[in-house]
Amino acid sequence: MKILIIGKGYLGARCAETWSDAILTDKFVKTAKDVEELIDEHQPDAILNAAGIVGKPNVDWCESNQEETIEGNTVLAIKIAKACQKKGVYLLHMGTGCIFYGNKEDGTPWDENDFANPTAVYTRSKYAADLVLSTMENIGIARIRMPLDDRSHRANFIDKIVSFEKLISIDNSITVVEDMIDVFRQLLEKKAPGIFHVTNPGSINHKEIIAFYKKYVDPDHSNEWIKEEDLLKMGMVDKKRSNNIMTSLNLPKYGIKMRPAKEAVEDAIKKYAKNKKS
Ligand SMILES: NC(=O)c1ccc[n+]([C@@H]2O[C@H](COP(=O)([O-])OP(=O)(O)OC[C@H]3O[C@@H](n4cnc5c(N)ncnc54)[C@H](OP(=O)(O)O)[C@@H]3O)[C@@H](O)[C@H]2O)c1
Repeated sequence: MKILIIGKGYLGARCAETWSDAILTDKFVKTAKDVEELIDEHQPDAILNAAGIVGKPNVDWCESNQEETIEGNTVLAIKIAKACQKKGVYLLHMGTGCIFYGNKEDGTPWDENDFANPTAVYTRSKYAADLVLSTMENIGIARIRMPLDDRSHRANFIDKIVSFEKLISIDNSITVVEDMIDVFRQLLEKKAPGIFHVTNPGSINHKEIIAFYKKYVDPDHSNEWIKEEDLLKMGMVDKKRSNNIMTSLNLPKYGIKMRPAKEAVEDAIKKYAKNKKS
């Protein structure tokens, strides 16, 4: 199967490393026509859209750069989708689970049928793309959360949380990158349409992740634990962050399973320790 990946960033490149048969383009897409040209050139069976604007150094950048954020996360996604529709190519679009803030009223995890409640510019721009793309045929939307990887990267959730002196601890959904890559491949091969919550089942909190980090990577690691409301009060973030627990009703329909969150995170941190030494 020929997969074309648009978006040569962290996660697009991670997928390309694993899929030796995939093409990772470095073309900067401005128009739907650019995508049509990429399709004509590479003749892919499916496209992964891993392009987007996540904000650097962090997502707060999006708050003051609304135009670029909407262009990169909403408008670009629609252009790519339109080109794929025109050429009859399946598209798997990367979404985020951070569009859900807090618990659902009935206390159950957020599933693919739920409407989200995003507040920040980044999460609104991502959700806007989901709302449009989910009305189109032959498109899958894969929502991930807090990607946690077995190798070091500034966007890896492990590297992120160990770099902070002060941390909150809240139960959350998480996506282990090794599992994400495997699920994406299955969705692409099955050309599965609809929304998919690509998060490891169950939840994990920051204290549990740090405990694994201390066990396998650095027993001397230390940090201070603070309350969620202190993040805003202390000026450590500009905009409230999303914390939530998600579940997938749609992955099982395609026979796709993921490892439980705690098991997958422990395994990833063990591998992270090994990769760090080698
Ligand atoms: N990392 C996370 O924590 C996370 C969590 C949930 C969902 N996601 C989603 O996963 C996707 C990939 O994220 P990532 O972490 O890999 O981000 P990333 O490292 O910033 O990669 C995104 C890539 O897209 C590129 N891009 C932006 N506009 C483009 C365009 N018009 N044409 C071609 N490429 C373009 C960026 O190029 P430039 O660097 O030149 O701008 C960058 O290389 C995004 O949709 C993101 O919303 C990420």
